[in-house]
Amino acid sequence: MAERGTVVIIGGHGKIALLAAPKLAEAGFSVRSLIRKAEQAEDVRSAQAEPVVLDVEEAGTAALAEAFAGAEAVVFSAGAGGGNPERTRAVDQDAAIRSMDAAEQAGVSRYVMVSYARSETDIHTLDTDSSFYPYAAAKHHADNHLRSTKLNYAILGPGKLTEEPASGTVRVVEADDAEVASTSRENVAEVIRHVLQSDAAERTRVNFFDGSTPIAEAIR
Ligand SMILES: NC(=O)c1ccc[n+]([C@@H]2O[C@H](COP(=O)([O-])OP(=O)(O)OC[C@H]3O[C@@H](n4cnc5c(N)ncnc54)[C@H](OP(=O)(O)O)[C@@H]3O)[C@@H](O)[C@H]2O)c1
Repeated sequence: MAERGTVVIIGGHGKIALLAAPKLAEAGFSVRSLIRKAEQAEDVRSAQAEPVVLDVEEAGTAALAEAFAGAEAVVFSAGAGGGNPERTRAVDQDAAIRSMDAAEQAGVSRYVMVSYARSETDIHTLDTDSSFYPYAAAKHHADNHLRSTKLNYAILGPGKLTEEPASGTVRVVEADDAEVASTSRENVAEVIRHVLQSDAAERTRVNFFDGSTPIAEAIR
């Protein structure tokens, strides 16, 4: 496989990230994964990525730009995991936004955001008292900020994530599709590889569930 540039994965010890890293390495990319805890480094190396310990909740824009030096793409696959509204805002929104600004500063061209299928619509329909609202708002604001940058972004909107193996086939849906079906995390990892490898989904968002259309055909 021809040598390609460096991809930095934020949230490098996450489930999607650990599935995406070896696929990106196989596609010829060098992968640098940002993790919170040094003890996660071995898992990241096993996934064919170079671990860098950096808590993105604490890191400012300059530190993030330094971590992105020389990279051609950044993938944001971190998340506070819900439950704590302050952490959700700090990671899923504020750290994400700093990482976008840092990517621009570092001259990164491509930015892939792992968002979720209803991040454009939930904010308008959910009760603000809903326990899901802080996550919906954080992802919505982060996605909006990404659209305002000059980065060549792809906002990925999977449905409910599962541990199913990748089928390699998906169903692309509209942002306001009321139904939320499931998406295999490994299919998300395959989509990350596809959009970085083939420059698909440029400056656009793609919502997708598991389906029957080959990824390369469904996402152009
Ligand atoms: N759950 C769903 O059904 C669903 C649906 C659609 C989209 N999504 C989105 O998909 C994303 C990725 O999913 P996933 O299953 O791969 O999530 P995951 O396994 O929970 O991975 C998230 C990663 O973010 C890392 N992280 C959290 N705070 C951090 C910080 N301050 N600095 C650096 N890293 C930090 C976590 O690190 P630690 O390992 O140290 O905790 C974890 O490894 C989620 O975050 C969510 O926004 C989820």
